[in-house]
Amino acid sequence: MWKTTTVLLVLAIGIAILLNQDDRDVPNLPETFWGPERNREASEEIRSFVIEVPKSVIDDLKDRLAKKKELVPPLENTAWTYGTSTTYLENVLEHWRTKYNWTERQALLNKYPQYVTNIQGLDIHFYHVKPHVPSDRNLKVVPLLIVHGWPGSVVEFQKIIPMLTTPRPDRDFVFEVIAPSLPGYGFSQAAVRPGLGPAEMSVIFKNLMLRLGFNKFYVQGGDWGSLIVTHISSLFSDKLPVNVPSACAAFPHEILYHSEVLLRYKYTNLIQHNHLPRGGHFAAMEEPSLLANDIFEFVSKTEDIRKKAENKDIPNRTEKVKEPSKT
Ligand SMILES: *[C@@H]1O[C@H](CO)[C@@H](O)[C@H](O)[C@H]1NC(C)=O
Ligand SMILES: *[C@@H]1O[C@H](CO)[C@@H](O)[C@H](O)[C@H]1NC(C)=O
Repeated sequence: MWKTTTVLLVLAIGIAILLNQDDRDVPNLPETFWGPERNREASEEIRSFVIEVPKSVIDDLKDRLAKKKELVPPLENTAWTYGTSTTYLENVLEHWRTKYNWTERQALLNKYPQYVTNIQGLDIHFYHVKPHVPSDRNLKVVPLLIVHGWPGSVVEFQKIIPMLTTPRPDRDFVFEVIAPSLPGYGFSQAAVRPGLGPAEMSVIFKNLMLRLGFNKFYVQGGDWGSLIVTHISSLFSDKLPVNVPSACAAFPHEILYHSEVLLRYKYTNLIQHNHLPRGGHFAAMEEPSLLANDIFEFVSKTEDIRKKAENKDIPNRTEKVKEPSKT
């Protein structure tokens, strides 16, 4: 009991210290070269990319799945408390070998335009999906960087992408979506030396957006993605504490709960905090339309604030609006 109290107290003091470190300088992160030496000569070209896994690779995988060793049965009455149930794993392996149709899956993954470009030595893969703006509507096209986490991939965004790039009758803007694969995930190259954490990834994705011609953009992320986009908004806006407009969509089954009070310490300009009725950690995949609505609502508010500021403060209208962030 005393132990618990002490630990809690120490934790509370620790959190209080953390929260009070407001006035630190923004670290100037280096543009580290993360790739293998042969990539030193890589061009900055943005190359079209299509997933094409050779049949021989798929055949080899099926062959190895068929030749697998017999699995040890799971301990009795333990469910998954001692790790993956081998009974369940047996079904998964069988599904991969006989039912999972890579040809169909690959076509689905190739549905949106994909590109690869070399940044700081790494080939970074991303979807870049532009909206279809009808000629009779005067819509602002807003760039939106969406960043996945672990153990995820851009596959999470399959359903939400068209929801974001399709114009809505009640909104005067629509999104142009950029969804990169984290270094080492999917078709993005992995670093060859340690040290590429979320802050360093934020440098890479900031450079990706600059290369695509965006120096002002919205960001959204879940899991590691939320850390990465928070770093983008704090490292590449004028000063700490973070003062960019931010929003949090709280899903009921999220595993990492943050109270609104704590969020307001960190995101000092939290203009939206919605409790959504369904969904969990993989919100974009689980509840794409709830998340898309939330993003539209937040950007609409932010754009209104920006427009008002521009109108009442003409001499300052050329000032850059800071990049808003969203977790
Ligand atoms: C996989 O899907 C493709 C495209 O729908 C189809 O042509 C092919 O026969 C399927 N393969 C298997 C093994 O079911
Ligand atoms: C314009 O911005 C500067 C610096 O942000 C501020 O000091 C100044 O008061 C602003 N001008 C007006 C007219 O609000």
